[in-house]
Amino acid sequence: MKVIGIVGSPRRGGNTDVLVEQVLAGAGAHGLETEKVLLGELEIAPCRACYSCADSGRCVIGDDFHALLEKALGSAGIVLGSPMYVGTVTAQMKAFVDRVDCSQVELVRASTGEVRFRRRHRGRFGVVVAICDLSPLSELRHCARVMEACLRDLGADTVDEVLAQRLSDVGDVRKRPELLARAFRAGERLAAAIRGGGTDERGRCAEDPGAHRGV
Ligand SMILES: Cc1cc2nc3c(=O)[nH]c(=O)nc-3n(C[C@H](O)[C@H](O)[C@H](O)COP(=O)(O)O)c2cc1C
Repeated sequence: MKVIGIVGSPRRGGNTDVLVEQVLAGAGAHGLETEKVLLGELEIAPCRACYSCADSGRCVIGDDFHALLEKALGSAGIVLGSPMYVGTVTAQMKAFVDRVDCSQVELVRASTGEVRFRRRHRGRFGVVVAICDLSPLSELRHCARVMEACLRDLGADTVDEVLAQRLSDVGDVRKRPELLARAFRAGERLAAAIRGGGTDERGRCAEDPGAHRGV
């Protein structure tokens, strides 16, 4: 069983990259195969809102999105990480989130005319990593919510989220051992959920009822 880590920062070796790697290390320590992908090294264009994907579930833009989506849907666990850029996730992460949302969520029209969203996917688990420098926690939580929505679209229940403030330069996070340990634990919780623990109704890992969100 595999866990894929998707990094929204354009900086390889940056704070997000390191924390996502730590989550993957936590999952890997429990025998799960892991892979990391940097969105900044792929070509993923923004959604064009053409709705060609509405029935097929397949986006018509021919770029790296398709291969990455296949990898994510072939994984038991998905880790999404992004720094905050001006109040939300990076453009790289937002392009991925929008493309997933448009193509992977089905719109179902009832005979009453009511329109509902229906998830195409289920059965996975995920972790969110959201980081920023000086912005307040409420804004950072917004970043986490955007990525949580994407996990939901991919059929993954969020078992944990790692929120970290006061990170700026490449390497800053390496001076914060508590954050590194926090991310590693998130990976362990992800592994426990994948291995059958699941989550309770509050999104906490059933094998770790003391688990809490945030740092
Ligand atoms: C274009 C841009 C916009 C940013 N906007 C914010 C912001 O709104 N709030 C904040 O706290 N930090 C902001 N930052 C700082 C980054 O979130 C921070 O440097 C983070 O550690 C970068 O993550 P990385 O090391 O993974 O690339 C911004 C950085 C850039 C380059």
